[in-house]
Amino acid sequence: MAELKTVGIIGVGSYAPERVMTNFELEKIVETNDEWIRTRTGIQERRIAAEDEACSDLAYNAALKALENSDTKPEELDLIIVATITPDYPFPATAALLQRRLGATTAGAFDLEAACSGLVYGIVTGANFIATGAYKKVLVIGAEVLSRILDWEDRNTCVLFGDGAAAVVLGEVEDGYGIKGFHLGAKGDIEKVLYQPAGGSMTPASFDSVSAKQHFLKMQGPEVFKFAVKALPDGLEKALEKSAMDASDLDLVVPHQANMRIIQSAAKRFNISTDKFYLNLHKYGNTSSASVGLALAEAIETGRVKKGDNIALVGFGAGLTYASCIIKWAK
Ligand SMILES: CC(C)(COP(=O)(O)OP(=O)(O)OC[C@H]1O[C@@H](n2cnc3c(N)ncnc32)[C@H](O)[C@@H]1OP(=O)(O)O)[C@@H](O)C(=O)NCCC(=O)NCCS
Repeated sequence: MAELKTVGIIGVGSYAPERVMTNFELEKIVETNDEWIRTRTGIQERRIAAEDEACSDLAYNAALKALENSDTKPEELDLIIVATITPDYPFPATAALLQRRLGATTAGAFDLEAACSGLVYGIVTGANFIATGAYKKVLVIGAEVLSRILDWEDRNTCVLFGDGAAAVVLGEVEDGYGIKGFHLGAKGDIEKVLYQPAGGSMTPASFDSVSAKQHFLKMQGPEVFKFAVKALPDGLEKALEKSAMDASDLDLVVPHQANMRIIQSAAKRFNISTDKFYLNLHKYGNTSSASVGLALAEAIETGRVKKGDNIALVGFGAGLTYASCIIKWAK
């Protein structure tokens, strides 16, 4: 077998809708309060897409920035992967809509569904096409309009999530840099603690499914919490092992931004400072597949990432799934 190429992230971009919804605004919608949300989750506000913004609109804006940041023309792309649980349509793929809109004339396009682990699953998938030499440039996007599937009368869920998008361009990087190791995991046996019951082939849309609110996101928060406090460190540990590193080698961990307490518990388990975990969930809430990318883009913009840094990306979410990868930053 030919030698594998070294693959890294060569550009990043993100987009958050303009409209900010604060915890105080939520106090007027459901029986909740800013103090509860902040102390239980760390979230202070989230972004909500405009009525005329769909998943592909958010994805498009993030993609343009990542293409510019990586100095890549759309025609150079070999593949577009969109990770989302809130696509424009059940089909066709949002990635195909973007392929046309971006003018990525020679790219293949598909959607990938791994919920909040989606962007990391997408990066690992796209990177392997480049590692084998089959492709040169892959665009991976995590984009969500979760506000469209939230039950705005359910305080257990509507306070937690937000809308946003993030994109990365993957390409070959110089030897010694790029993705060092990854791990993709799933615990499919605990699938119904976080899901959207209707709208698929199991329970197609009907008057009954709509009136029973079966098209909204349902979650058993404490069950998901139990999974997450294990999945985040377990996933990270497996990727570290494959990278022949330990936690002290990491310069920055960019975790899925679900809940500050989940992240604090992971920091404790590795005995590393929470300062090593990049957090921006106070501004965006949980944006599912977009969250790791929104945090990574901001970490880069604010100077937290420099060439040679070992960066861990870690996602966990519905499925239940989890995913991690360690990257020696090449830019
Ligand atoms: C959702 C979550 C924040 C709840 O925190 P918690 O400390 O477990 O709180 P509980 O669910 O035990 O609820 C405690 C109380 O707060 C109440 N409560 C729930 N949501 C509330 C809200 N928005 N405002 C005020 N009170 C709320 C509950 O009804 C419960 O009241 P009760 O004791 O009278 O029954 C937490 O379970 C969590 O973060 N889970 C993981 C969720 C997640 O990350 N999902 C996405 C993964 S990708």
